[in-house]
Amino acid sequence: MKNLSEMKGLIFDLDGVLVSTEQNHFMAWQKTANLLNIEFTEEENENLKGVSRIDSLKYILNLGNVVVSDQEFTSLLEFKNEAYLASIENLSQNDCLTGVIELLTKVKEEGKRLAVGSSSKNAKHILKLIEIDHLFDAIIDGNMVENLKPNPEVFQKAAAYLNLSPSECIVFEDAASGIQAAKSGGFMAIGVGNKNIKDLADKYYNDLTEFTL
Ligand code: BG6
Ligand code: MG
Repeated sequence: MKNLSEMKGLIFDLDGVLVSTEQNHFMAWQKTANLLNIEFTEEENENLKGVSRIDSLKYILNLGNVVVSDQEFTSLLEFKNEAYLASIENLSQNDCLTGVIELLTKVKEEGKRLAVGSSSKNAKHILKLIEIDHLFDAIIDGNMVENLKPNPEVFQKAAAYLNLSPSECIVFEDAASGIQAAKSGGFMAIGVGNKNIKDLADKYYNDLTEFTL
């Protein structure tokens, strides 16, 4: 494994790494599951971290053995997203996770190239709300890839935008699907803020204040 200081690019997942929105996703899915009389717990939600909106709904329907029409499927996706967006309406820079602003500012000054690699189709909107969008050289979101995590495409695309190879980049992730994506794409995978992924990641930190290059 390469020395951390030799790495030229840092690619960050969004939800759960840069900003504390994972609970908002969970609550919005729980409301959606309630409509269908499906019990959806925080434990089950762990399997949906990093997973796209469509795949998440498929997972929940499968959990409850519920079959819906294509039209209902689309309405449920809209319902979830509206509930989610309403719950993050007042999101601000204060919702950035511990150590985020300090780390991004420091590594940017050191000349590292920075990207976001997120499954979320709301990523750009959220980055604007938390006022850190200008710090990134590339933002790859759920609208820009065909295959979502655990497929490595989102991180591969981010590295390509940074003009770097996967071996020159570190990926920061809070989800099992994201760690899997990073590793299968040949990236160093750093787990952060979710003890459940501690053993999957190449390195693990409780929050980004613990990370130094
Ligand atoms: C990921 C979240 O970042 O984005 C998931 O971890 C979420 O919980 C996924 O389902 C898709 O997000 P969105 O905003 O496109 O519904
Ligand atoms: Mg995440």
